[in-house]
Amino acid sequence: MNKKLIIFNWKMAPQSLGEAKRLLTYNLQLTTNNKNIEIVICPPFVYLLEASSVVGRRSLVKLGAQNVFWEEKGPYTGEISVKMLKNFGVEYVLIGHSECRKYLNETDEMINKKVLSVLKAGLKVVLCVGEDLSVRRRGKKAVENYIKKQLEKDLKGVLNLKSKILNLIIAYEPIWAINTGHSDTPRDALEIIKFIKKILVASGYALTPKVLYGGSVDSKNIAKFLEHSEIDGALVGHASLKAGEIKKIIQKYRY
Ligand code: PGA
Repeated sequence: MNKKLIIFNWKMAPQSLGEAKRLLTYNLQLTTNNKNIEIVICPPFVYLLEASSVVGRRSLVKLGAQNVFWEEKGPYTGEISVKMLKNFGVEYVLIGHSECRKYLNETDEMINKKVLSVLKAGLKVVLCVGEDLSVRRRGKKAVENYIKKQLEKDLKGVLNLKSKILNLIIAYEPIWAINTGHSDTPRDALEIIKFIKKILVASGYALTPKVLYGGSVDSKNIAKFLEHSEIDGALVGHASLKAGEIKKIIQKYRY
C-alpha cells in the first residue's frame, strides 16, 4: 500500500494560541515514524510561526498553509506570499478551497495564478475541486464535466513548468459534503477520483497522480475511503480539531 496523505485543515480555528499549541503538541505525540501515513497540518496563518517551532522542520508532521497570494511581493494588504510560507517551513499549500471560492470570490483565474506561483517555488499544491449539489443532482456525467472544466482552468500553463509537476495533488471535495456531516459514499468518490486521475494522466500533468477525498471525513468513515488504493489520502476539516477524532484517525494507520 502506498503511503496515504492525511491533511488536517483547521480552517478559522482554534481561537487562541494556547489551544493551537495544545493541538499541535497532541498531533506530534500521536504521530510516530510511520510507513502508512503522512500527516500535514494546515493551521491559520497566525499560528504558522508557532507551528513551525513546535513541529520543527524535520518533523514527522508536515506543515501546510490554507491559502497564499500569487505575487512574490508588493502592496497587497492582507495577503501572504509563497516565500513567507517557505520561510516558516511550509511544504503544502491548499488552493481553490470551495470556501475561498465562495466567501472570498476566488475565481479559477486567481486560483490558476496561485497554482503556478506555488509550483514555481517548489512547494506542493493541493488543488481543491468539487461540484455543488445542483451539479450532483444532474448526475455523474455532469459532475465529470464540471470537474474537467475546473481542472482545465485551474491548471492552465502548468505543463510549461515540467520539472515541478510532481508537486501537484488534487483534493476532490464535493461542496455539499463539506462540513455537513454527510460525506460522499466511498464508491461514488472513487469513481470521480478515478476520472480525475485519467484526466491528469491523459493531459500529461502526472504519471502517477495523487488524488485525495475531502468532505466530512472522520474517524468512522476514513478507513472506507482509504482502503481503496486509488484514493491517496483525505482532507479532514472539523474532525481535525477534536482530540478524540485525531487520535482515532492517526492510530488507525499508525504502523
Ligand atoms: P470537513 O471539511 O471535513 O469539515 O467537511 C473538509 C474541508 O473543507 O477541507
